[in-house]
Amino acid sequence: MIEKRGLQIVDRDDDGVDRAFRADVLTGLREPQKAVPARWLYDDAGSRLFEDITRIPEYYPTRAETEILEAQSTEFAEQVGSGRAVVEFGSGSSVKTPLLLRAIEPAAYVPLDISGDFLRMAAEDLARKFPGLPVHPVEADFMREVALPGAVADMPKLGFFPGSTIGNMVPRTAVDLLRTMRATLGEKSKLLIGMDLVKDRAVLEAAYDDAAGVTAQFNLNLARRINRELGGTIPVDDLRHEARWNDSFARIEMHLVARRDMTFEIAGEWFSLARGETIHTENSHKFKRRSANMLLLAGGWTPVRRWLDSRRRFSLILAEATIARSAP
Ligand code: AVI
Repeated sequence: MIEKRGLQIVDRDDDGVDRAFRADVLTGLREPQKAVPARWLYDDAGSRLFEDITRIPEYYPTRAETEILEAQSTEFAEQVGSGRAVVEFGSGSSVKTPLLLRAIEPAAYVPLDISGDFLRMAAEDLARKFPGLPVHPVEADFMREVALPGAVADMPKLGFFPGSTIGNMVPRTAVDLLRTMRATLGEKSKLLIGMDLVKDRAVLEAAYDDAAGVTAQFNLNLARRINRELGGTIPVDDLRHEARWNDSFARIEMHLVARRDMTFEIAGEWFSLARGETIHTENSHKFKRRSANMLLLAGGWTPVRRWLDSRRRFSLILAEATIARSAP
């Protein structure tokens, strides 16, 4: 059965199982380092838990990025100028997007999102807050090039990709996405992108392993989802959440750690975890100025300006579509 969710096609078998989810889980758990792609963390319960994470005291990125957007409105206006179509990759959160739109007087707002329901809600909210602003929501997977609405064809574009979501991708995928964004936005476009910064390990590990245990629930929810949707028998209570700093790759990794030796079944296949063995569930890369610049350049964007919050924890970077020219 093919179910259409926005432009996302969910391919389900006769038992209603999402085939892509099952394939990713089974393939990932057959590897020596078991892993499940992070995108499966976001079912309804996971998305709600992530919203909760953005409000916990230890999770600084949302507050730090909001602070930059509030503090730098005059500079954004100077650097970006008015009259651009703002194209947001992922539907705008109710807090960050209005701050940007208020600062730069855009000519139109184009939220792109794979989830039609979420997209419509965000678009309606924005249209209410900015009555004169043309809003053109597009249901699309922004990991692929998107044809923007004809109404914004002649306007210069500003891509907006907040939250350091780029950090959840391994560099190869991040570069692919940046190049795709450049193709979607076209020549002479600009990109305003949030990138979280490398910092004290204890601060990072606390941000991803909060005292109230919300991030732990977010991570464990993936195992619950596997049990629920794929008929799994993972003993969730015998797993624990761990956030680890991987210094070589400058990233926080989320793992589910086995508290004891265990075997479990998923979709008719058996797996085992020895005590202490883990399932790797997410990467959250952190950047320094040079690594952020290199990633953007590799993706076809030339960084032109960078803003930090007052505690220098998070960066918002403005980049311009690089003009293609030969070496050097
Ligand atoms: C969505 N993303 C940017 C979050 C992050 O910080 O990497 C996801 C997250 N995972 C655990 N806490 C938050």
